[in-house]
Amino acid sequence: MSGTESNLPVTIAGTGSYLPEKVVTNKDLESLVDTTDEWITTRTGIKARHMAAEGEHTSHMATKAAERALEQAGIAPEDLDLIIVATITPDTLTPATACYVQQNLGAFNAVAFDISAACSGFLYAMKISSRLISDGAFKNALIIGAEKLSSFINWEDRTTCVLFGDGAGAAVLRAAEEGEGSIIATDIGTDGRQTHLLNIPGGGSACPTTTENAGQRLATLAMLGKEVFKHAVTRMRDSANLVIERAGLKPEDIKLVIPHQANLRIIDAIADRLAVPNDRVFVNLHKYGNTSAAAIAIALDEAHREKKFERGDHIILVAFGAGLTWAAAAVKW
Ligand code: ACO
Repeated sequence: MSGTESNLPVTIAGTGSYLPEKVVTNKDLESLVDTTDEWITTRTGIKARHMAAEGEHTSHMATKAAERALEQAGIAPEDLDLIIVATITPDTLTPATACYVQQNLGAFNAVAFDISAACSGFLYAMKISSRLISDGAFKNALIIGAEKLSSFINWEDRTTCVLFGDGAGAAVLRAAEEGEGSIIATDIGTDGRQTHLLNIPGGGSACPTTTENAGQRLATLAMLGKEVFKHAVTRMRDSANLVIERAGLKPEDIKLVIPHQANLRIIDAIADRLAVPNDRVFVNLHKYGNTSAAAIAIALDEAHREKKFERGDHIILVAFGAGLTWAAAAVKW
């Protein structure tokens, strides 16, 4: 599903992020599973990840990221009319994590719901909310990517536990005013034939946790990494190229590419295929690992606050995740 936003132009008015205090390094994991800092660094680029405290839920992290985005946008919680949380690690199966966020913020004039599109979720939320604002249905939207993946990791499985981290990122969207930049083009896609490559098999209605299966830790992330890797490179390349073309951009027009932060080798392969030099590709996965739906949102906020791009610059956001799902956006800041 792709398209050019053609009605009211929609701008990103503010960004925010939050990482929990506790840092777990590769060295820390060496004492947990049969792994090494060297393997994790060379195979993924990850050096550390943050882990939520006990009692710190996805909604708490989402709320903190949201408060920072709202402050930057200069928008009060009561002026929000839409809140979308993208997450695969909700506080509860129901109600939606977005409802807890609404309550925490006191944003009681907003419609609030979650979407589940794994690592692509934040860009799915951007697509949905920008269309709703563009159509005139909503005015001020808060979109959040937030994950507490540490609750869904098998800490005895070295092939997955070294990869993921917790955190949240947020953005406030509204109709663009004269002279402001806007979201120029978006693309989202899904391939449900590949559900088996990356999933949390247990804990849902298909396989509820019971006293009999509790020991099998089925409510944890399972991944066929090599297969996922190949899909990630081609899908992200194609999705990014689509929005670049729709936005009428050339590689040299792009100030910064913000890709999903799963693996440095995937990011390098994407940069190569998009013909964008590495110094114009944002990387922070060495600090945070893969935070799924939060990754692009955190990276966008960090890059913004570090002034890696300015008003008038073109940036490309591109993500990929379980589903399989993928998404991209071309934004004029
Ligand atoms: N430490 C040491 N050795 C390890 C570890 C570890 N932590 N993990 C795996 N190994 C071993 C394997 O057992 C294997 O050993 P063997 O050859 O004796 O069998 C060897 O290292 C190679 O394993 P591979 O899985 O082939 O390693 P690969 O180079 O493919 O890297 C990785 C694995 C990092 C998972 C990579 O495939 C990857 O990044 N895949 C894509 C991840 C991704 O993009 N996910 C999408 C988003 S996630 C979401 O949506 C929630």
